Amino acid sequence: MVVLMEKEMKYDEIFARSFSRHDQKRFGYAALVGCFIVTCCLCTVFKPYLAPLPVLNVRLTIVDGLKLVMGTQQTNKPQRPYVGVKERKLLCNTTKPRSDTCEMEGDVRIQGNSSTIFVLSSHVGNASWTIKPYARKGDESAMQRVTNFSIKAIQQEAETMPKCTKMHNVPAIVFSVGGYGGNNFHAFTDVIIPLYATSREFNREVRFLMANKHSQWTTKFQEVLDNLSRYEIIDIDHDNEVHCFSSMIVGLKKEDRKELHTNLMKEFIRFLRSSYSLERSTTIKLTNRSIKRPRLLIVSRQKTRAFMNLKDVVGAAQEMGFEVIVTEMNANMTQVSRLVNSCDVMMGVHGAGLTNMVFLPENGVVIQVVPLGKMEWLAKTCYGEPSKAMGLKYLEYKISEEESTLKDQYPHNHQVFVDPFTIQRKGWDAFRSIYMEKQNVMLDVAKFKERLSKALQLLHE
Ligand SMILES: *[C@@H]1O[C@H](CO)[C@@H](O)[C@H](O)[C@H]1NC(C)=O
Ligand SMILES: *[C@@H]1O[C@H](CO)[C@@H](O)[C@H](O)[C@H]1NC(C)=O
Ligand SMILES: *[C@@H]1O[C@H](CO)[C@@H](O)[C@H](O)[C@H]1NC(C)=O
Ligand SMILES: *[C@@H]1O[C@H](CO)[C@@H](O)[C@H](O)[C@H]1NC(C)=O
Ligand SMILES: *[C@@H]1O[C@H](CO)[C@@H](O)[C@H](O)[C@H]1NC(C)=O
Ligand SMILES: *[C@@H]1O[C@H](CO)[C@@H](O)[C@H](O)[C@H]1NC(C)=O
Ligand SMILES: *[C@@H]1O[C@H](CO)[C@@H](O)[C@H](O)[C@H]1NC(C)=O
Repeated sequence: MVVLMEKEMKYDEIFARSFSRHDQKRFGYAALVGCFIVTCCLCTVFKPYLAPLPVLNVRLTIVDGLKLVMGTQQTNKPQRPYVGVKERKLLCNTTKPRSDTCEMEGDVRIQGNSSTIFVLSSHVGNASWTIKPYARKGDESAMQRVTNFSIKAIQQEAETMPKCTKMHNVPAIVFSVGGYGGNNFHAFTDVIIPLYATSREFNREVRFLMANKHSQWTTKFQEVLDNLSRYEIIDIDHDNEVHCFSSMIVGLKKEDRKELHTNLMKEFIRFLRSSYSLERSTTIKLTNRSIKRPRLLIVSRQKTRAFMNLKDVVGAAQEMGFEVIVTEMNANMTQVSRLVNSCDVMMGVHGAGLTNMVFLPENGVVIQVVPLGKMEWLAKTCYGEPSKAMGLKYLEYKISEEESTLKDQYPHNHQVFVDPFTIQRKGWDAFRSIYMEKQNVMLDVAKFKERLSKALQLLHE
């Protein structure tokens, strides 16, 4: 249990780090035209973790874009036994903001132990690509933990391809759960949601080739994986076969830069409910004569960003008519999904535990407590906007200096309070060590009750 918590914490740091990068990139992509202007803008906000890197990423993206190759062709050649399609296709798109993908049809062979994919293609020539099949492109710390797949287009010379040792008659999807995949927020944003978008059209008739596989990860998300593919997952990094397919997608579909949501969100949420056999699709509807009490889930954290006066908060919520459940989230998704789904309102301090709002019934209310440190943008992007896309109601509570335990650690007029941007400029580590790690929350219960009462009101609507 303790081990788990520590892990969660570590991921949490990573998670936030990726955000600061993301922040930079958001600006970067918005102004592809002028790299230097971009750098200036960013410097004023997040100078230190900026370095020259993001600019480099932007440039690389453009260069990669020029290598984009697309083509489809009718072929009259006799088909190999495992080739079930007439049309060949080789489409690699490296211009998308978060995820590089290659879609291939025809004679496709993958050798796991060399991370190489061979595709027979008469029209592309001897082209090759390197794809990291994880949807957080441009984030170096994430991507360095993702297997590089080399895709080689072989021109009309099947003999130069390795011999098939295993034939498959369903399509393959190659993706990685490395990167930040161990963090709950990233597992959903970078893997599960894009995997759903990529694989749902196959109705479980698809084979997953997983890179950077951990048994913990596949156990944690077993229900979801089982509902997307009915075949055993291949641990492609540790495999001595040459697997042959007639259709393969490398990398997951993610067309946008959205965090924890996509255009398919409502559908995805229904899919999750069915995967975890969750009973409630909507919250209780309160009337003045309701006998049933609405359930409030308080997501607690032990070590960082903890609630210091949980008892008072619980007492106040109970007085207002809530049935209150306090829990720290764990990795048992069967348990977590049921618990969250049984609740109508979920509250917690900014952190990956809030990701579990995906299991709330429709109309549920999320209350995010935002600590000091000018992290409003982070709060909105990670949980505010996604909650709305999921059909939930979103409330925010920004704590005051009085409610932060930082007030016991720094003098009143310290820059920690006066100018958090200065600390952001010192770099992510400085920022994290103060605002993310040293800060606990002592809610002003009288003030916070206003949010709870708003939540009740929303349940009446
Ligand atoms: C590649 O992706 C970009 C961004 O999503 C899209 O605009 C473009 O049409 C895609 N290219 C091809 C050839 O599909
Ligand atoms: C492609 O590579 C093969 C083997 O490496 C070589 O024989 C062939 O000439 C190359 N074709 C082109 C168009 O470069
Ligand atoms: C992937 O390729 C890059 C260069 O493209 C290299 O720096 C990196 O070490 C490789 N990563 C792995 C995990 O092999
Ligand atoms: C990789 O797999 C091939 C079969 O596809 C096998 O011949 C080769 O020995 C393997 N290499 C290593 C290093 O295990
Ligand atoms: C997912 O699995 C559950 C339980 O096995 C099943 O009832 C449900 O129909 C499945 N949903 C989809 C979309 O496959
Ligand atoms: C419900 O109660 C509130 C005050 O508690 C009152 O303002 C409102 O009119 C009541 N609504 C109905 C439908 O009775
Ligand atoms: C997860 O929780 C459920 C319900 O409490 C339990 O039946 C199951 O054994 C747990 N799974 C794991 C892997 O601990």
